[in-house]
Amino acid sequence: MCGIIGYIGNKDVLSIIISGLKRLEYRGYDSCGVGFVEEKQLKILKTKGRIEKLQKKIEKTNTKIAVGHTRWATHGVPIEENAHPHTDCQNRFAVVHNGIIENYESLKKILIKEGHIFRSETDSEVIVHLIEKFYNGNLKEAVKKTLSQIVGSYGLIVLDKQQMVVSRKGSPIVIGVGENEFFVASDISAIIEHTKDIVYLEDYEIAVINENGYSIISKDDQLVEKEIQKIKISLEQIEKGNYKHFMLKEIFEQPTTIKNSLAGRIDLNNLTAKLGGLEEVLTQEPLKKIKRIMILACGTSWHCGLVAKYILEKYTRIPVDVDYASEFRYRNPVIDSSVLTIVISQSGETADTLSALREAKEKGSLVLGVVNVVGSTIARESDCGVYTRAGVEIGVASTKAFTSQLVVMFLISLYIGRKINTITDSQAKEIIENLEKISRKIKIVLKDAENIKAIAEKYKNSNNFLYLGRGINYPLALEGALKLKEISYVHAEGYPAAEMKHGPIALVDENMPCFFIANKDQNYEKVISNMNEIKTRGGKIISIATEKEIEDLSDEIVYVPKTLEVLSPFVNVVVLQLFAYYISDFLKRDVDKPRNLAKSVTVE
Ligand code: M6R
Repeated sequence: MCGIIGYIGNKDVLSIIISGLKRLEYRGYDSCGVGFVEEKQLKILKTKGRIEKLQKKIEKTNTKIAVGHTRWATHGVPIEENAHPHTDCQNRFAVVHNGIIENYESLKKILIKEGHIFRSETDSEVIVHLIEKFYNGNLKEAVKKTLSQIVGSYGLIVLDKQQMVVSRKGSPIVIGVGENEFFVASDISAIIEHTKDIVYLEDYEIAVINENGYSIISKDDQLVEKEIQKIKISLEQIEKGNYKHFMLKEIFEQPTTIKNSLAGRIDLNNLTAKLGGLEEVLTQEPLKKIKRIMILACGTSWHCGLVAKYILEKYTRIPVDVDYASEFRYRNPVIDSSVLTIVISQSGETADTLSALREAKEKGSLVLGVVNVVGSTIARESDCGVYTRAGVEIGVASTKAFTSQLVVMFLISLYIGRKINTITDSQAKEIIENLEKISRKIKIVLKDAENIKAIAEKYKNSNNFLYLGRGINYPLALEGALKLKEISYVHAEGYPAAEMKHGPIALVDENMPCFFIANKDQNYEKVISNMNEIKTRGGKIISIATEKEIEDLSDEIVYVPKTLEVLSPFVNVVVLQLFAYYISDFLKRDVDKPRNLAKSVTVE
């Protein structure tokens, strides 16, 4: 949530900050601000709303140091006063902060009693007043004392007139190293056009950065030498190119991202998956002791978990539970070393998923992370893992990350199944051959985008949708409904098709389009019965089909190529993504930055 950037150097400081903030805007976009030094004074400019508005307030300045922040409100409504940076009473320090200070109310009371004047309703403002309180000539020491007082999570930059002091706990921060210039960011996409040399900060580390360089100290006050890592992301990956929105670009990237997720990961000799991140930890011995698999995730990643349950159970015969990470943690879950926990997360920073991971680990479970963002907290804290390689996903609605997660879940199933001998050679061959064809099949669905767009145009004014599917495509019904809700603000519900007659059917009339995932699979005949039940009640049917025979039952139909039943979610989800995208665009919503949302949810 929220985005942070800082810069020290000789270039046009504020344009670097503004362009970085624009790249970070997908992480939070209800207000924003910058802090910089001009004529030896700290200057702060803030605004409610988007970065473009802030940009208009900025005049030419020759500052050498600045910080910026784009906010997703947690404490305090999105107004200018609550935007970051926050300053102390004497305007000596400015703070930009991501995360939540859980004990801010008690700290604020004490600080107010001591005479500090608060200007915002945010939790973050206590940080800068604590720094003011503890400051006696050494900013790093004041920050250290401050951080020892606060409970919660933070990624922060403290700015004074010549330096930035930076730290993190549970919220990512990287340092970018350029030529005689230094960057700080909560997300590498903010600085990638300037440098690819990155230093990842760990929890509790504190970095001091000035025009001459940077130094990092550990939690126990030791100087830390850190390797500079070269990151491989290109600028092209974080730009829209000729697409109208990032979401559309990311949907169309899927044939490539799926190939990337598979590349080099199939061992054709042994008909298994080659997953370097598992090989040392998840050997045959521990795998044989696994009695249950627990999948933990949120949102779209949770839907991937639900699909993965079908795949894992089919191929490994190990029972699989799937839980919302946010629910798992608070019910004293029954979990121990006989359970393999799989956490799935695009960002690798989702607070609920991270807490669930820690809970599972603490209870003795081995944790396998399926993560997209390299070096993210979940990736680092998992015992072993597989990166999904979907590339940078910027649209708030997750699309290509989902299909890459699915690829990885197939690979993990193959890997485990072959190790514990639950997958025969012929099954393994079948999975591999068909997985390798999926990219091509998605290309076929993408060619039908105009048809899907035309259907979306026809239904753009419907206020409610029902999404129905069975078996492995039931989670897809949930995903279709989530996509539509989050980017178009149209109410939609996903249901297992057969459950519909136990209640939701009462909603059905000519104004309630029902989206059926109706591929010819083991549930096909049953799904057709469910379609008839809708039809006889005057409902409108949009189907995703593999056969012509349901044309008469359907008001609209989108054909997808046939594949193995277990692989059908790949082709079906692309239709659902495109439909949601076009409805949102027709309704003139802000597709990539839907209201009230942010790309990664780093608060519980
Ligand atoms: O980064 P994560 O995969 O952990 O994020 C989980 C959810 O917040 C995320 O999938 C969210 O539901 C998306 N907006 C869905 O499109």
